[in-house]
Amino acid sequence: MMSMGRLRILIIGNGGREHALAWRCRHEGHEVHVAPGNDGIAEDAVIHDVATSDHDGVVQLARRLNVDLVIVGPEQPLVEGVVDRLIHAGLRVFGPTAAAAELEGSKAAAKAFMARHGVPTARYQTVAHLADGLAALRSFAEPPVVKASGLAAGKGVTVPESLAEAEAAVRECLGDGRFGAAGSTVVLEQRLRGQEVSLFVLTDGTHAVTLLPAQDHKRVGEGDTGPNTGGMGAYCPAPVYDAATRGRVMESIVEPTLAGLRAEGRPFVGVLFVGLMIDETGAPFVIEYNCRFGDPEVQPLLYGLRAPIVPVMMAASAGALEASASLPGRPAATVVLASEGYPLKTRVGLPITGLDHHAPDVQLFHAGTRRDADGRWLTSGGRVLGVCARAETLRGALSRAYERCASIEFEGRQLRRDIGVRALS
Ligand SMILES: Nc1ncnc2c1ncn2[C@@H]1O[C@H](COP(=O)(O)OP(=O)(O)OP(=O)(O)O)[C@@H](O)[C@H]1O
Ligand SMILES: [Mg+2]
Repeated sequence: MMSMGRLRILIIGNGGREHALAWRCRHEGHEVHVAPGNDGIAEDAVIHDVATSDHDGVVQLARRLNVDLVIVGPEQPLVEGVVDRLIHAGLRVFGPTAAAAELEGSKAAAKAFMARHGVPTARYQTVAHLADGLAALRSFAEPPVVKASGLAAGKGVTVPESLAEAEAAVRECLGDGRFGAAGSTVVLEQRLRGQEVSLFVLTDGTHAVTLLPAQDHKRVGEGDTGPNTGGMGAYCPAPVYDAATRGRVMESIVEPTLAGLRAEGRPFVGVLFVGLMIDETGAPFVIEYNCRFGDPEVQPLLYGLRAPIVPVMMAASAGALEASASLPGRPAATVVLASEGYPLKTRVGLPITGLDHHAPDVQLFHAGTRRDADGRWLTSGGRVLGVCARAETLRGALSRAYERCASIEFEGRQLRRDIGVRALS
């Protein structure tokens, strides 16, 4: 990949994902701005007080700074079309247009897209009325997964253990309106079994540059128990994704997806996050598409990366990637430190100690922290910090991350002690 001079980059978002992106861009020698960012990100970038929902403000900021590249972190502004606005204003953007981001914004549309293009995925049915939804549940051999079609901040999916649980989930969406318009259409989906893998594909719409396969841990409790969260940890690479599986994924999923979007006049530029289920025979199925980096997976992926990513993003944003490739990286892992009570009701504003200490090959990515007037660190959210480490082996990365976790304290701090264990056995 060609080398490039120092670029000015604007990143939109305020969590651990955006901190990892900012750290990476700065590490590659670029000038980094983030809006709205957080106090932890301020250690790696210039922070601007513009909300992700303020598309006018984002466009104005990007123009005022005269940035060379804008990277949009979260899904909401992507689905709402902030990239279309930025492109219209003459800016270079790494991120999909609203039309391409629909693959995340509407699960019903994504399933129909996969059906049109022969992409392997679970059998499904879309319903929009309560009575139809309840009746349709019975056409599946076992209770299907129930999904609010629209964006629901990671809370719109139920994997039921009984028909009663599936019915309750359908009622929440189509009866009680719990997710508003996002739940007014529901996708019912055959339950798949196997191992989940997160695959990130950087693309200009045609070529695919992949990162290492990653796995995250969504449940709050050890042994994958308790409610779903934004993610309690992640690691890469995922051993289940071997060379044979990779070949099948690229041929049967990534290529037809990119080609399908091109054929429909909405080429995808940015990072396509393919959530995969690999069954016991090694066959891959798409669980979902997202139109952005996943957090915390992005943390170990970017921290362990052995090749520059900014040139890939620049080329992709210009529709000018030269070839498909996979970027090399070291094994790496993130352990999330979360507040007491997360993901339900959490306490914030608690002092954090141990942040100033530095350990080699360990990096903290801030999600929910802030500094008070005296510069002391306080918790400010459910997920507080991603403690990320890299090494020559995954085992080494995990032990480095856990060692660093032991020196960070705040009241009620919770973490999972089993991040990555499946990959070690
Ligand atoms: N068909 C399925 N079979 C088995 N498990 C599933 C299925 N669909 C979803 N799941 C489980 O539910 C989780 C969430 O589903 P999905 O990824 O579609 O929702 P999401 O809310 O968009 O997630 P994210 O916040 O990661 O984007 C998956 O990671 C998987 O563990
Ligand atoms: Mg999703």
